[in-house]
Amino acid sequence: MIIKYIVVGVLALNLLSGCSEVDSSKASASKMMQSNTTANPKVDQYESVPDVQKEAIKVGKDYHSFANPESIKVTHLSLDLTVDFANKVLVGTAQLDFEKVDANATLLILDTRDLTINSVTAKDKAVNFDLSSVDSFLGAALTIDIPTDVNSIVISYQTSPTASGVQWLTPEQTAGKKHPFLFTQAQAIHARSFIPLQDSPQVRMTYQATIRTPKELLAVMSASNDPNTPRDGVYQFSMPQPIPAYLIALAVGDLEFKSMGLRTGVYSEKGILDAAAAEFSDTESMLIATEKAFGPYSWERYDLLILPPSFPFGGMENPRLSFITPTVIAGDKSLVALIAHELAHSWSGNTVTNATWRDLWLNEGFTTYLTYRIMQMIYGDERFEMEAVLGRQDLQADIDSLPANDQIMAIDLRGRDPDDVFSNIPYEKGALFLRELELKVGRENFDQFLLSYFKKFAFKSITTQQFIKYLEQTLLKDHSDELSKQRINQWIFQPGIPDGAPVTESDAFTVVDQERNAWLAGTIQANEIDSEKWVVHQWLYFLNNMPAKLSQQQLADLDKEFALTISKNNEIAHSWLLISVNNWYQPAFTRLHDYLTSIGRNKLVKPLYKALSQTPEGKLMAQKAFAEAKAGYHPLTVKANEGFVE
Ligand code: BES
Ligand code: ZN
Repeated sequence: MIIKYIVVGVLALNLLSGCSEVDSSKASASKMMQSNTTANPKVDQYESVPDVQKEAIKVGKDYHSFANPESIKVTHLSLDLTVDFANKVLVGTAQLDFEKVDANATLLILDTRDLTINSVTAKDKAVNFDLSSVDSFLGAALTIDIPTDVNSIVISYQTSPTASGVQWLTPEQTAGKKHPFLFTQAQAIHARSFIPLQDSPQVRMTYQATIRTPKELLAVMSASNDPNTPRDGVYQFSMPQPIPAYLIALAVGDLEFKSMGLRTGVYSEKGILDAAAAEFSDTESMLIATEKAFGPYSWERYDLLILPPSFPFGGMENPRLSFITPTVIAGDKSLVALIAHELAHSWSGNTVTNATWRDLWLNEGFTTYLTYRIMQMIYGDERFEMEAVLGRQDLQADIDSLPANDQIMAIDLRGRDPDDVFSNIPYEKGALFLRELELKVGRENFDQFLLSYFKKFAFKSITTQQFIKYLEQTLLKDHSDELSKQRINQWIFQPGIPDGAPVTESDAFTVVDQERNAWLAGTIQANEIDSEKWVVHQWLYFLNNMPAKLSQQQLADLDKEFALTISKNNEIAHSWLLISVNNWYQPAFTRLHDYLTSIGRNKLVKPLYKALSQTPEGKLMAQKAFAEAKAGYHPLTVKANEGFVE
C-alpha cells in the first residue's frame, strides 16, 4: 500500500508548482504509529481502520478550488462595485489580469458561488464562458475561453442576497439603528460568493477597487484606507502587496475613525468608538514589539474595524484592517489576546500563507504561538502562563472529543467543507509544537529561525512539506541532538498530543484550584472564596474546571456572591451559561436568551446551542432563541447551529 501511495504521489508532482515531495503522512504512517504513545483511546480505532481506499493526497493541490493557476494565473484584480442595500446585492465588474503559465493555455477557470454572470469581455469583445453545475461545498466553476494575445478579461456580475460571504444588516441590527451595514468574510472559501476569482490561497494577487455606496456611509477594505476621505459615496482602494483571495474584505456602514498611534487606529460605529480605542490602546505597542522580535511589518498601517455583534468570528486578519467582534470590548483589556492574534497574522498567514486549507495550521499554529509571545512581551509572564494553560485545556477538550483523523494538524479535508472542521487543533496543537521546538533549541535560536522563515517565504503560499523541508535545512541540521524528524512527523501527521509535550503552569491558577476545591468540599462557603484579586482568566479557569454536575444550591450561592448571570464579560458569561444549561439552573435562562439573541459569534453561541439540544426542554429554548435570532445571524452561524434546533 505504501508503495502505491508513493507512486501516485510522485506522478502528481508534475502538476504542482513549487512542491517537491510526496505526502509523508501516508508513506511513513506505519513507522510512526508504533511510536505514538498517546493515551487517546481513539487512536486505536484510527490504526485499525487505515484509510486505504483513498488516493494519496497530492501535496499542494487545492481540493477546495476549481481554478487552474498551473495553466493561467490571475495576478491582479480590479473591482468596480455598487453596494445596493435595497436589493442586498453587490453589482458591477471584476477585471482580472493574468499570466499564462502554460503558453498554450486557452481556458481560465474561476471559482464562483451563487453569482449571476452577465457577460465576460476581453478587449471589449464578448468571449464565451460556461458556468458548471453546482457543487454544494465548492460552488460552480466559471470557465472562460481566452483568445490569444489576451491577458485581461472583464466580468460583469452580481451577487445573490444570500451570498455565503456577505452579511447585510438592517439599521436595527446596528448600534446606531439608523443606517444599514454590510461586511464580507471570505475565509476559507467564500470570496467566490462575492467576486468571481481563483479562490485558492496559493493564488496571490494585488487589487484595486472602486466601491459605490449610499452617500452617508463609509466603505473600508483590506487595503489602503484614508480615514479623511470625503464621504461622497465613492471610495477608492488599492492593495499593492499580492494577497490570496480569502484576505479580500469589504465593510460599509456609518463608520468613524479614531487614531490609536502612529500606525494604528480603529473604525467603528460612533457609539462604541471611544470604548474600542481605549480597550485596544496597546495595539501600537504590540505592533512595535512584534516587529522587533519577528521582523518588519510589511503592510504600512494596522487598523481595526469593530463590527456589529453578529460578526461570526472573534477576529479576521484582513490585511491592514483586522475585522474584530465587539464582544471582546470588556472594559479591562482582558480579552485583547484576540488583537495580538489578528496582528500576528500579518506575519504568519498574510505574509507567509498556507498553500491549501490542509496547511491551515501553518497560519493558525504559528499565529497562536506568536500571540502567546506578544502577550508575554506586553503583559508579562503571569498573563502568558494563564492564557497558555487555558489554551492547553481547550486543546485537550478537542483531543478528547474529536475523531482521530480530525486531531491531525495536516488534516485530510477532501470532500469536506473547511467550515465544518473548525477546531483548536491547527491553533493550539500547532502552537504547542512550535513551543516544543523553541524549548528544545532555545528561544534565541528559535526566534532567529522564525525571523528567517518569515523572510524566506514572504509573500509566498507554502505547504506543510515546504515547511518541513525548510526545518530540515535549518533547525534540524543545527540541532540534530535535540530534534528528530520522527518526532516532528508525529506532531504534524499523527492524532493526539505526543508524550512529553511542553506543559505550562500558572501559579495564579494554583490558588484558584485551592479555592474551588475547598468550596466543593464544603470547607468554605461561597462568600469565603478568596477571589477579590482575581482577574478574568482566573474566573474562567475557576468556572471551566467545575465538575459536570453542581447542585442548584451551589449554583445559587455562586451567583448570589459573584453575580455571574449578569457578568458583563462575554467569556465569563459564556462559561457560566454553559454550566447553567448543563445543570438546568433556570435563574440564568433570561440572560441566556438575551445572550443567544444578541451575539452571533459562533464560538460563543455554538456550545450553548449544542448543550441545549441535549434535552427536550433545552431544545425548546434553543428553538425559541434561534427563531428569534436567525434573521440577524451571519450565514455561517446559521449553518453551524441549525442542526441543533431541528
Ligand atoms: N483567520 C481566523 C478566522 C478563520 C479561520 C475564519 C478559519 C475562517 C476559517 C482568525 O484569525 C481567528 O483565528 N480567529 C479566532 C481568534 C482567536 C483564536 C483568538 C476566532 O475568531 O475565534
Ligand atoms: Zn487566526
